[in-house]
Amino acid sequence: MKSAIIGGTGCQRMVNSEWVRHTVDTPYGTVALFEKDDVYLLLRHGEGHTVPPHLINYRANIAALQQLGVTQTIGIYAVGSITSMVLPGTIGIIDQFIDFTGGARQSTFFDGGAGGVRHVPMVTPYSSRLRKAIARQAAQLEIPLALKGTYICTNGPRLETPAEIGVFRRWGADYVGMTAATETILANEAAIDFAGVVYSINWAAGLDAEGISFIEAETSEKVITQLNHLTKAALLARE
Ligand code: HPA
Repeated sequence: MKSAIIGGTGCQRMVNSEWVRHTVDTPYGTVALFEKDDVYLLLRHGEGHTVPPHLINYRANIAALQQLGVTQTIGIYAVGSITSMVLPGTIGIIDQFIDFTGGARQSTFFDGGAGGVRHVPMVTPYSSRLRKAIARQAAQLEIPLALKGTYICTNGPRLETPAEIGVFRRWGADYVGMTAATETILANEAAIDFAGVVYSINWAAGLDAEGISFIEAETSEKVITQLNHLTKAALLARE
């Protein structure tokens, strides 16, 4: 079974000289990614973190994984906390998303023409098998982990107003980010078993007396190292 991790903000530091770089040509564009120990790593913001969330070529990224024969993938997402489900500096598994990108992105392979028309169900957008594998590995590695949560996905790249965060909280969102919904939709359309893990780097707008402030670089490095181990172990684990 071929596996992939899609890494976000801060995940460039997961790549060292042990990873082999590949490029894949897809109908949507060329994608660069890395491979090590049977796991691919795709950096969604590009190798130098130069692509903002609203301009990521999500279709090319997921099509590249599909072309490589990847059947299971875990996305890693930096978020801002709206509830105490996942506190800044801690991690959790997504079980639902709210797509607040407003249709501003290419977030489907099924847009008529050669792609056809299909309406893929999103009742359980995240693989329960992968979620269980992540939870099991977290317990073994003694990493505290929230087992569920709702991610609201904005278009960005700007951050939110406190009024927006107030609405999102009333809607039931636990944390906010700018990428997971689009990636999750396309992975489901591509029939890739998909899970999402979040790590919070701040309280969302209006929830922190200081204004917006982000966790220390040292804490975020520690959390990303944990996530690197956790996601790889979950993908490679035998049931
Ligand atoms: N809002 C949106 N996306 C984010 C945030 C936030 O507060 N923190 C990290 N990604």
